[in-house]
Amino acid sequence: MSTATSTDTSTATSTYPLSFALTPSTDARAEAERDEILADPGFGKHFTDHMVTIDWTVDQGWHDARVTPYGPLQLDPASSVLHYGQEIFEGLKAYRHADGSIWTFRPEKNAERMQRSAARLALPQLSVEDFVQSIKQMIAVDGDWVPSAPETSLYLRPFMIANESFLGVRAAHRVGYYVIASPAGAYFADGVAPVKIWLSTDYSRAGRGGTGAAKCGGNYAASLLPQMQAYDNGCAQVLFLDGETGTHIDELGGMNVFFVHGTDTLVTPRLTGSILEGVTRDSIMQLARDRGMTVEEREVTVDEWRDGIASGEITEVFACGTAAVVTPIGQLKGKGFEIGEADAPAGAITLALRQELTDIQYGRLPDRHGWLTRLDA
Ligand code: COI
Repeated sequence: MSTATSTDTSTATSTYPLSFALTPSTDARAEAERDEILADPGFGKHFTDHMVTIDWTVDQGWHDARVTPYGPLQLDPASSVLHYGQEIFEGLKAYRHADGSIWTFRPEKNAERMQRSAARLALPQLSVEDFVQSIKQMIAVDGDWVPSAPETSLYLRPFMIANESFLGVRAAHRVGYYVIASPAGAYFADGVAPVKIWLSTDYSRAGRGGTGAAKCGGNYAASLLPQMQAYDNGCAQVLFLDGETGTHIDELGGMNVFFVHGTDTLVTPRLTGSILEGVTRDSIMQLARDRGMTVEEREVTVDEWRDGIASGEITEVFACGTAAVVTPIGQLKGKGFEIGEADAPAGAITLALRQELTDIQYGRLPDRHGWLTRLDA
């Protein structure tokens, strides 16, 4: 369970596992107001009534786990996260099943990835058990915020920040872990309609030995300017090439990318240390193998994409992530070129993989891989 490294000081004196104190909100939204939000949640716009906080110091380790009313953090202006960006986050979803029960998907994978991100950002590691417990605590107080309309969910956002007031550049001695939750519909406004993607050749998301494999705010901050260029070019997301040679496809601003070759092969860029190891990515590869497809993790070039579309070898392209689920990609645009048709219909394999994944997540298919964890019991 522990992935302690030499930079890990998290377990020094922590009580393990943590127990959570609850201060209920006295001003939680009324049912009617909540229902109005859940009827059209959008993505990342509304937040539930409570949040989780766990403090960490070098001397005490993790301590003072609590669930409190949702509200602003009080941060000293000298907090190191505000200056040096020592921050990591995760994203996972709570799904309501037809019988009303609430489940999440492979939370231990998010917990382990957060431990790896923490190691890279010189932050303390939270145990898998405490991570999962923090999610359960959110659902215990705000379970009514898990929507029940098709393909909606409660998006859970655990994050960790360095909140020591100190301007020297070193790993902070004081850290906070938090969980907030936000009811979610489709990440892209047009749902599963194919999106256009902008190829960034001016900017990289990650470099060799950098933080590309970590889920840290800095990676996303670096993607925002190229993401604006994507919008300016009528595209929904930006695609990055590897920072070293600028020839291989890495990933989108916030999602992994897959190519279907013919009807039986799925190809995705291999993990190089600069690509985020997506939980959805891993699950899609498993579902593809289950249906007899060959899965290749390897380098993919833009030329291969262009030639593959031209020859008909590449039949479908899609993006995937917790927020995006599985989203078809219709076209890649770059400076002076376009690959694929903007109005191409979503591919059959893309839609079938999306359907199977969401059927498992929403309890409509048996959980044959043991991916689900019940949150409300
Ligand atoms: C997720 O898919 O959970 C992410 O963190 C991506 C983010 C850009 C919304």
